[in-house]
Amino acid sequence: MATNWTPESWKTQEARQLPDYPDANALDGALSELSKYPPLVFAGEARALKADLAQVAAGKAFLLQGGDCAESFAEFHPNTIRDTFRVILQMAVVLTYASKMPIVKVGRMAGQFAKPRSAGTEELGGVSLPSYRGDIINDIGFEAAGRSPDPQRMIRAYNQAAATLNLLRAFAQGGYANLHQVHAWTLDFMGRSPWAAQYQAVADRIGDALDFMAACGINPQTVPQLNGTNFFTSHEALLLPYEQALTRQDSLTGGWYGLSAHMLWIGDRTRFEGSAHVEYLRGIGNPIGLKCGPSLEPDALLRMLDTLDPAREAGRITLITRYGHDKIEKHLPALVRAVKREGRPVVWSCDPMHGNVVKAANGYKTRPFDRILAEVRGFFAVHRAEGTHGGGIHAEMTGQNVTECTGGAIDITEQGLADRYHTHCDPRLNAGQSIELAFLLAEMLNQEMREREKAAA
Ligand code: PEP
Ligand code: CO
Repeated sequence: MATNWTPESWKTQEARQLPDYPDANALDGALSELSKYPPLVFAGEARALKADLAQVAAGKAFLLQGGDCAESFAEFHPNTIRDTFRVILQMAVVLTYASKMPIVKVGRMAGQFAKPRSAGTEELGGVSLPSYRGDIINDIGFEAAGRSPDPQRMIRAYNQAAATLNLLRAFAQGGYANLHQVHAWTLDFMGRSPWAAQYQAVADRIGDALDFMAACGINPQTVPQLNGTNFFTSHEALLLPYEQALTRQDSLTGGWYGLSAHMLWIGDRTRFEGSAHVEYLRGIGNPIGLKCGPSLEPDALLRMLDTLDPAREAGRITLITRYGHDKIEKHLPALVRAVKREGRPVVWSCDPMHGNVVKAANGYKTRPFDRILAEVRGFFAVHRAEGTHGGGIHAEMTGQNVTECTGGAIDITEQGLADRYHTHCDPRLNAGQSIELAFLLAEMLNQEMREREKAAA
């Protein structure tokens, strides 16, 4: 267990990106209520995810982490949850087939509400208001009352996360995740994609494998695992008062866990020496993520790993790199070499979203799909060259047919962005773009597998 740590020791460190609640009594009231609510997940589940991630760190599995940039109260709907879950499963089937490895599925769901912002205030028409920081903190509407941080929003976010998680658990284990069904959805998608021909061979081979298994009597009736799947949740542990209220001591091991989600991560803006966020996360037993951007030097990363993972526990740390398509091959090798030299058992995951934001001519914030794919290619190229495992992908995506990222097979143009631009924060891949990304990843993983076989021969 971490030394000199308590669930509130973060308060002694520098806390960036936290809201100033105007009413201290209202804040205390909401936090004391939350601290009596049931945990959203169980510590044993967080340990199970850590064990799965240890397999990724060892090069024997692949991590697929995805979901909203920011969940919202307005878009809370069972169909939204179902559709995002469905696309993640579809991606996972394609990836399993290509890599011949288990895919560890983690949603940016059921708690991804708080957002770090580059500026504390937003100006519009000569008026300045506090920036929107996610529905768990304030309201997106540009209006003074709603932009004031309201602690009751934490209670609402908790309840929404609980209901979302309940539905995800039902989908994962209740038959919705049936492997044959998931593949049938992908075939349906393929039928409508202009790039279908490119993916047809992979899709056909997956279909053949399923038919072969069925002929051998391996089906969801005989092998219940084919009917269900493991699915975990994650979010950025940004709003520390909320996270603290859901920090509990595990009755089995006595260790502390952040039980608002299975996996929690530290964002690029709150990752620094002396950070309150680093202090909080170092003391909980969950698997944790660390965003790595251009400002992170190899030595600083190694010191961060000493703080967050002194025991060098496999599966504890996932390094989520987010450089941008034109920077990844410049920055990533030095980090990979330092981590490899120190023998640290981390998962390397690629976030091709946060370094690739551009402003379209009409003012929309977007991400060109070809830059996203270019960063993914760069990530795998570095790991191939360094002899390390490109272990995961971290994507902002939705199962809805939104128009937020330009490009893709059904080409979204800058003009088209206005059609269905619904995100509360950053632009997300839509369902079609997400599946296309999975097919590209499949190519990369297949290449990695072939090179490993060649090296072993
Ligand atoms: C995010 O993942 O939504 C995010 C804000 O990322 P980063 O901290 O890498 O900028
Ligand atoms: Co984002």
